[in-house]
Amino acid sequence: MSPKQIASSAPGKVILFGEHAVVYGRAAIAAPVAQVRATATVEPAPAGSGLTIIASDLSRSIRLAAAPDDDPLAVAARLTLTYLSAIEPDGTLTLSSTIPIASGMGSGAAVSTALVRGLAGFLGHALEAAEVSEIVFEVEKIHHGTPSGIDNSVVAYEQPVYFVRGRAVERLAVGRSFTLLIADTGAPSPTGKIVAQVRRAWQREPARCDVLFDQIGDVANEARRAIENGDIDALGPLMDDNHELLIELGVSSPRLDDLVEAARFAGALGAKLSGAGKGGNAIALVEDDAAGEATEELKEAGAVRIIRATVKRDV
Ligand code: MEV
Repeated sequence: MSPKQIASSAPGKVILFGEHAVVYGRAAIAAPVAQVRATATVEPAPAGSGLTIIASDLSRSIRLAAAPDDDPLAVAARLTLTYLSAIEPDGTLTLSSTIPIASGMGSGAAVSTALVRGLAGFLGHALEAAEVSEIVFEVEKIHHGTPSGIDNSVVAYEQPVYFVRGRAVERLAVGRSFTLLIADTGAPSPTGKIVAQVRRAWQREPARCDVLFDQIGDVANEARRAIENGDIDALGPLMDDNHELLIELGVSSPRLDDLVEAARFAGALGAKLSGAGKGGNAIALVEDDAAGEATEELKEAGAVRIIRATVKRDV
């Protein structure tokens, strides 16, 4: 059977609760953001040409056979081929993404997920979410050093997840839909670097950091119950608490704090930074009728991009 053109895609994500503490075994919650996506298309290429990967947004083109050992795109492709016990096909795999890079929205995990699914599909295999997630986790280690695994999980499953490192991913039931504004500071949030900073802080002051991680994990567990019960009013204060704990951990920034303050001023039920921090995005929980005003306030406070996302109730 000759391979046909294949297309695949994967969403962005936000961490709702528990970032950083999740690296240290505490609970965290994340949701996919379908409005922004990474896509991969794979088309047949002439016999003998091997696999070429084109990252169209980065104007990069690599031939798999010649790519360095630690190139994340090549690693994703090689791991997929090894997993499937397949030989390198003749094809052109083109990647593109609307997920802002280094903003805490999982662009690396989504690009890898689209690539793995696209390449597997081109070879005639439909991988399960757990299989894709496992492969992408290995790629995330190149990007981020010591990832918890939450980013690859929420992106590969494309469902809200309750996540504890080393345990099976749990799909989070959502009792009532809720709306988030995801506001980008425009400053980069290099996950690997910030995770490494937190690790150094933990090595210097393990007792202080462990207390913060415990408190963050407790907030995530309370948030889980609130989300499952559809108790959205309880979620806002939990986001505020989580933000304060992340400030104490040293991963917020004046720009993030300004966005969080602006959202609260405009009537958001709660707000926090999301992802690794220092830059990237803040998220605000809003009633639908307050979303317009909060969007304006966030723009005035310096947000360069605002995405409105709904975490939908289970049907
Ligand atoms: C990044 O989206 C979330 C962090 O907790 C890192 C990780 O879990 O791997 C900061």
